[in-house]
Amino acid sequence: MEFRKRPSISWDMLGGRPFRLWRYKELIPIPDDVQIISLGEGGTPLTKLVKSLDQLGLREAYAKFEGVNSTGSFKDRGMTVAMTMAKYLKVPLVACASTGNTSASMTAYASRAGIKPLIVLPKGRVARGKLSQAILHGARIILIEGGFDNALRVILEVSRRGIVYPLNSINPWRIEGQKTIAYEIIDEIGDPDWIVVPVGNAGNITAIWKGLVELKRFGLIDELPRLAGVQTAGAAPLVRAFKMGLEEPLPVENPETIATAIGIGRPVHGSRALRAVRGSKGIFLEVSDEEILEAQRILARYEGLGVEPASAASIAGLKKLREEGIVDRDEKVIAIATGHALKDPDTALLHETTSYEAKDIREALTLIQRLTSA
Ligand code: F0G
Repeated sequence: MEFRKRPSISWDMLGGRPFRLWRYKELIPIPDDVQIISLGEGGTPLTKLVKSLDQLGLREAYAKFEGVNSTGSFKDRGMTVAMTMAKYLKVPLVACASTGNTSASMTAYASRAGIKPLIVLPKGRVARGKLSQAILHGARIILIEGGFDNALRVILEVSRRGIVYPLNSINPWRIEGQKTIAYEIIDEIGDPDWIVVPVGNAGNITAIWKGLVELKRFGLIDELPRLAGVQTAGAAPLVRAFKMGLEEPLPVENPETIATAIGIGRPVHGSRALRAVRGSKGIFLEVSDEEILEAQRILARYEGLGVEPASAASIAGLKKLREEGIVDRDEKVIAIATGHALKDPDTALLHETTSYEAKDIREALTLIQRLTSA
């Protein structure tokens, strides 16, 4: 297929609305007669960084802003394909374990498909924006102690028993949709030197690698970019395994991090992700919660991009890769900004601000006069 070619499916299949990700339908191996379940995902901005370049020590860098997908994270890419297949397979009940974004996405797409959603979430570890989405879309919710890894164990068990159709990234259709991030990047700016990805369960980095390898096989790119997988210091099973030369993740019990989205101790795609990163001559590295907050602030205040903490991990990682001389000043780098700042309002509120109170208009006017005359 020629890249940038017009899609072969009719716009009517999507109710006449514009579609973005589905322009790559020929590269997604699903039956031709599916009814596509879409909320207009993909086609996200590849925003050129401008004001933060000095702080990052780079000349050319971009943020792929996945926060503008319809439920506010990159998960919508995999979900449109997986829910399309769930509908095609006529499953009555879909389910997932989630740190929040997968469940927000799954419940929205389940509503669109008319399929009942069930979600298992780690109690006390899901950011409020994400939980409110699941409630809004009408999921049955189970809150479990012991973090995401326990929630996923429950889903794996009920899937094995045939009670639910799982929509975690163990579902191969999720990976098929998610790989389109790679297609879009290459389609838009050719091959970059590095793609920096925040990593939790490792579905996304695995999918991006799959997309890149396919493009190389089709002869659409000559060189494969290097992948950098970023984890947080409190949840770094892949960084530890990478450093020790292991082929499996080194599990972390009770992962703790401000970036709750990637607070995962036993990544299900861990060994695939290790192979992908090594295959790309890339690296796994960790960043601290403080570095994440600093990167979130840089993106918000210098670039106008509001991202959630897990997404800021990619920028924090990029900064570190430059400081350590692993990424060169002249290299072209893409950081994947996986989710929107509104997902986690409580963390956004931690940033320093100046606010004043006025009890009436007069007092507000006096205050402004005083502040602006200084
Ligand atoms: N960034 C955000 C905002 C996420 O929500 C996730 C994963 C990741 C990065 C990491 O992606 O798991 O494919 O390596 N969130 C999952 C969820 C676990 O349940 O929403 P990954």
